[in-house]
Amino acid sequence: MDKVSALRRKTKEAMQGGGEKRIEAQHKKGKLTARERLQLLLDEGSFEEIGMLVTHRSRDFGMEKEVYPGDGVVTGYGTVNGRMVYVYSQDFTVFGGSLSETHAEKICKIMDLAIQNGAPVVGLNDSGGARIQEGVVSLGGYADIFHRNVKASGVVPQLSAIMGPCAGGAVYSPAITDFILMVEHTSYMFVTGPNVVKTVTHETVTSEELGGAKTHASKSGVTHFACANELECIENLKQLLSYMPQNCEDDAPVYEYEQGDELRAKLNDIIPSNPNQPYDIKEVIEELTDANSFLEVHREYAENIVVGFARIAGRSIGIIANQPATLAGVLDIDASKKGARFVRFCDAFNIPLLVLVDVPGFLPGTDQEWHGIITNGAKLLYALSEATVPKITVITRKAYGGAYDVMNSKHIGADINYAWPTAEIAVMGAKGAAEIIFKKEISEAADPQAKLKEKETEYLEKFANPYGAAARGFIDEVIMPDVTRQKLIKAYKMLEQKVSVLPKRKHGNIPL
Ligand code: HXC
Repeated sequence: MDKVSALRRKTKEAMQGGGEKRIEAQHKKGKLTARERLQLLLDEGSFEEIGMLVTHRSRDFGMEKEVYPGDGVVTGYGTVNGRMVYVYSQDFTVFGGSLSETHAEKICKIMDLAIQNGAPVVGLNDSGGARIQEGVVSLGGYADIFHRNVKASGVVPQLSAIMGPCAGGAVYSPAITDFILMVEHTSYMFVTGPNVVKTVTHETVTSEELGGAKTHASKSGVTHFACANELECIENLKQLLSYMPQNCEDDAPVYEYEQGDELRAKLNDIIPSNPNQPYDIKEVIEELTDANSFLEVHREYAENIVVGFARIAGRSIGIIANQPATLAGVLDIDASKKGARFVRFCDAFNIPLLVLVDVPGFLPGTDQEWHGIITNGAKLLYALSEATVPKITVITRKAYGGAYDVMNSKHIGADINYAWPTAEIAVMGAKGAAEIIFKKEISEAADPQAKLKEKETEYLEKFANPYGAAARGFIDEVIMPDVTRQKLIKAYKMLEQKVSVLPKRKHGNIPL
């Protein structure tokens, strides 16, 4: 009986984490505990804990007297909407969720299981960083996790929710994972905090300004989602998982979908008659995809490109779309990086791509050139070109210059390329083109302005349409906007069994 009560006592102790007072302090900050978060994330009764009784081995600074079963992280497996996930949830009430040697070992153990058994890893991070009392073994523990993050990359989806502090080298585990979600006002991420920043650069900045959710969602792009609170964060995690397969050899789940009238008349009126007038590409996305299925990723970052998951006839797709409503949908460094990263996730996990094109070209200027629009633009080109999943393109309006090639053109391996009658596919805009090729004629004309206009119109009539590309087969079909959804449903079905064989190599060398 004593033996049974010993187990009960230890289990109870583990369930209490750092104790009532610290749990209260956690709640006062508007944060849930590690176990409460898991309860919200996982299907009821599905959680199986691994390593509940693990304790640290530290014997310095009186640590032998402060021992908490579980050592500041709850690890195990369970299901989300019936599908297996491996989870770790850091417990801030135990040494501030700091990472000890054994805490790291627990995380590594579930990561190994996830890789071996082919299911996603979800990490709920809330930690003061390396366990200061432990020194190098804690640093080693971090590196053990990083190494597994890299090993798991492209094998199983890895999601990181940041629900408290995440500072120093600790940021690099989430950074390697596929998606980061942060909670506004209660989480932050930075390599060095406000005090160090003040000393080194003399800048005065708060934690929130330096590395809060809004900052990383809009300025740095480090986080893919800024969530209003922890509940929203966990809901986003669940929704994200719903688009993904369990691993790289699996297909994403297919949701029930009853096909009806797939004509979308609204699309025929969406492109303004003036080609310089913006419209919202998200309205096009809403019309093309299953009702309420679009989950935008990186919403506040590089808004001139829109990326996200959706479903078409119940099947997951990844969307990359120029956004004419922001900066005329131009491709710049941030947009290229954002698009490329998303494409690589989709390709790694067998999620077909839909690319919607309305792009005037790459953004000119010293700022872009000096920060490497060449290398960064090449990332999107490389990622789309390398992707072997089914790839479909719809050119809604502009497809100019190099951006035409980059945005999933036929030439870089798109399977099906559609264009709307409003498409303009050309080397450059009509005015610029006329100025160059008719330079002499214009300058010698009695009225150079009138001549320029005349030549501009000539160029526009010749090239600002999809028919030159369609005549060469670069565009498979020029379609009315309203039938686009019908076409996509059929085309993805046709591409379902796509097999694409690449030449043997260790790995490519994407221009990082
Ligand atoms: C051990 C820690 C700890 C740590 C916090 N605690 N961080 N214990 N190692 N890293 C403990 C505190 O002693 C305290 O214990 C409890 O956690 C809660 O901490 P508070 O300071 O009371 O909470 P709060 O005011 O909310 O501040 C949270 C915090 C702060 C901002 C995280 O604790 C902090 O600055 N901690 C140190 C962060 C840090 O410098 N970490 C090392 C970074 S270097 P009690 O017993 O009072 O509850 C690093 C390198 C990683 O991480 C490299 C990887 C390659």
